Amino acid sequence: MELYIDSANLSEIQAMASTGIISGVTTNPTLLAKEDPTLDVKELIKHIHATIGGHVSVEVISTDTKGMLKEADEILKWFPEATIKIPMIPNGLSAVKELSKQNIPTNVTLIFSPGQALAANNAGATYVSVFLGRLDDIGQDGVAVVKETCEIWDRHGLESMIIAASIRHPIHVLECAKAGADIATTPYKILQQLMKHPLTDAGVASFIADHEKMMSAKGGK
Ligand code: E4P
Repeated sequence: MELYIDSANLSEIQAMASTGIISGVTTNPTLLAKEDPTLDVKELIKHIHATIGGHVSVEVISTDTKGMLKEADEILKWFPEATIKIPMIPNGLSAVKELSKQNIPTNVTLIFSPGQALAANNAGATYVSVFLGRLDDIGQDGVAVVKETCEIWDRHGLESMIIAASIRHPIHVLECAKAGADIATTPYKILQQLMKHPLTDAGVASFIADHEKMMSAKGGK
């Protein structure tokens, strides 16, 4: 399963890109609004793409099909490699249908049920983003929705790539990997948690200590 970073923060993206564990970036208007307001968003996104070289989703703000298509057109003028991120509303699916005819990659976002995922697939979405954490936040089982979506995909050989989004902790990533999601888009902190284990840190510290002991016993030779 691929990992993307869910962030618009360049230092976080650069830090994770340097580890080689991520192959894409998802942004959204909320993540972009957290960054320095003096930053030029277009430059930031182009810089992000130059850093990671893979998938970068850029979200539209319009809620009417015409507006979404106009925004997609503008985005693609300054960033031709963009995957256009479109909300899971009927007008959004009409935009996905049009963009898919032109072979423009789309990521349908704010999906909370297998039915919505199926609809987005049928409209021609390249990616469907299932927001499991926000379901957990309201007392529903987000992982179950990802599992059910993956079962439907396996049964019918559906084509959209399933992105597990709105990840809240490392167990979410593992549960989605077991379910068969293609990608988990994961916040920086959780990617760090995923790589870390206290026994690894203790092991590294004891190897260094033992190596130093051995070197001093040999008189530094
Ligand atoms: C995915 O593309 C979204 O940007 C993201 O995962 C939303 O997660 P949140 O529920 O933490 O805002």
